Amino acid sequence: MIIAIDGPAASGKGSLARRLAEHLNYGFLDTGSLYRRVALAVLEQNIDPKDTNAVIEAAQNLIAVLDQPYDDSALRSDNVGQTASIVAQIQEVRDLLIQYQRDFPLQALQKGIKGAVLDGRDIGTVICPEAPIKLFITAEVEKRAQRRHKELQSRDIQATKPEVLAEMLERDARDQKRLDEHLAPPRVIGHDVHIIDTSDMTPDEVFNHALKIVTSH
Ligand code: C5P
Repeated sequence: MIIAIDGPAASGKGSLARRLAEHLNYGFLDTGSLYRRVALAVLEQNIDPKDTNAVIEAAQNLIAVLDQPYDDSALRSDNVGQTASIVAQIQEVRDLLIQYQRDFPLQALQKGIKGAVLDGRDIGTVICPEAPIKLFITAEVEKRAQRRHKELQSRDIQATKPEVLAEMLERDARDQKRLDEHLAPPRVIGHDVHIIDTSDMTPDEVFNHALKIVTSH
């Protein structure tokens, strides 16, 4: 059983995916963290994110150590998020990360885990198009910026609300451009995708709504 969860930044998809996986005892893969790990390697090695060849080399080096433990908190800054959305535009980087993501549900199965929840941008379309349950989690951009601002504050990361909103709009535009170029719109939101707008929902409401969809399958 694969549950594919896609959606824009700070839509609530990550928290939902983690919670569903815990509740169902499924494996959980935050695919954004893979792009963030490439981004962090690029930043740490002072590589220009637009230097495609150098970024691809950094991604190739990362593939060899993807299974090793890493410091997740180092991935959560907005700088890493922005850089992730730049390196994610390089098709070779995406190709390098595809196999790991596709293997994840199989590896869970081999460990006796019955299912997997993957969250990202292209899970229901590219990574696991055969997933029986596909959720698209979204929210108004102002609400998403508000949430991200709160989250940054809770981590003592300084940023003003307008700065966070501006970065969110910039990242949305970059991610959307890539989706427009590589995916025909009907594949992005197909008839089999459940769209949940979380703008006016609490995390509990989102979770209960999603769980109902999952259990009805
Ligand atoms: O979801 P998160 O904000 O951690 O993702 C960081 C960036 O990685 C996104 O802005 C997006 O550009 C990229 N990404 C992607 N495909 C995925 C997951 C993330 O392109 N499946």
